[in-house]
Amino acid sequence: MAFLSQGSAVPPLPGRVPAPFPNPPAIMSSIISVANLSKTYGSGFKALKNVNLDIKRGEIFALLGPNGAGKTTLISIICGIANPSEGKVLVGGENIQTSYRKARSLIGLVPQELHTDAFESVWATVSFSRGLFGKPKNPAHIEKVLKDLSLWDKKDNKIITLSGGMKRRVMIAKALSHEPQILFLDEPTAGVDVELRKGMWEVVRTLQQSGVTIILTTHYIEEAEEMADRIGVINKGEIVLVEDKATLMQKLGKKRLTLHLQGKLSTLPESLSPYKLDLCDSGATLIYDYDTKGERTGITSLLGDLRTAGIRFNDLDTTQSSLEDIFVDLVRTS
Ligand SMILES: Nc1ncnc2c1ncn2[C@@H]1O[C@H](COP(=O)(O)OP(=O)(O)OP(=O)(O)O)[C@@H](O)[C@H]1O
Ligand SMILES: [Mg+2]
Repeated sequence: MAFLSQGSAVPPLPGRVPAPFPNPPAIMSSIISVANLSKTYGSGFKALKNVNLDIKRGEIFALLGPNGAGKTTLISIICGIANPSEGKVLVGGENIQTSYRKARSLIGLVPQELHTDAFESVWATVSFSRGLFGKPKNPAHIEKVLKDLSLWDKKDNKIITLSGGMKRRVMIAKALSHEPQILFLDEPTAGVDVELRKGMWEVVRTLQQSGVTIILTTHYIEEAEEMADRIGVINKGEIVLVEDKATLMQKLGKKRLTLHLQGKLSTLPESLSPYKLDLCDSGATLIYDYDTKGERTGITSLLGDLRTAGIRFNDLDTTQSSLEDIFVDLVRTS
């Protein structure tokens, strides 16, 4: 699946001399600004608590959080589908409540729950979506979107005859029908098979290259790790972390040293207790978790103490802890 650039990037002119102080890249400016946002549902349930969040133009932002954390509620408010109890949302500088039509026209939304008109054709349903935004007909754009999403050969099929994965792609096509600058994908790959998921990641990446800002929610840590420039974690209605993915991995990342022992151990000598080692694999493997943030990893002294204790090993390896460990930690402790 290829999503061709819509040509939003300006190619350098031949012979053009670069400015001594180039403008900051577009990714630096916020396209969405959420300030002091709270939502209390009619039932009295507080689904969002004082959320502040800026989305940078051109980025892929992944919002991670467990079931019921408030992801869909937040997206619904940003898109103007639900009203906040407190706070303000600006989309492209426009207030989503007081300037709804302008702000909403910048957004494409693929909702978590799929609902399409089962008996319409793919072409009709996607074209109709564009019309809802008051945009003039543009069959060439609809054709491009359907081709990019590998739906062109299904354009005359009724939605009801499509597979689940195809229906999800139709939802994306609908969301892109009016050429939005921002695309929200609420759990885009829930229940989608591995191959198709990878295809969708590719679509999202090429969309980003064409200048679209993407906000996705997901339960798949792997998806955030693979796709996002920045990651936000929401838990119980509160944003508990927003960070560049790379910084996050580095800052919170722990490393694991695994030692494959020459002989099996039934217990560990007392002298090694400060290292909080785990003896696994019926005593054949020793595991040491250490912090990459710390000044010292403790590895040198551990190896020395192992030697003193007469514990020998055949091999060792290290692994970086995944975003999953970080996420589970955050959600558990907050
Ligand atoms: N219309 C509503 N009325 C009352 N409570 C609601 C309503 N919609 C959502 N909630 C509650 O608000 C909380 C957040 O729901 P939300 O759908 O935003 O979570 P989510 O993070 O999207 O979860 P999931 O990962 O399951 O999609 C939940 O406790 C939910 O029960
Ligand atoms: Mg949700």
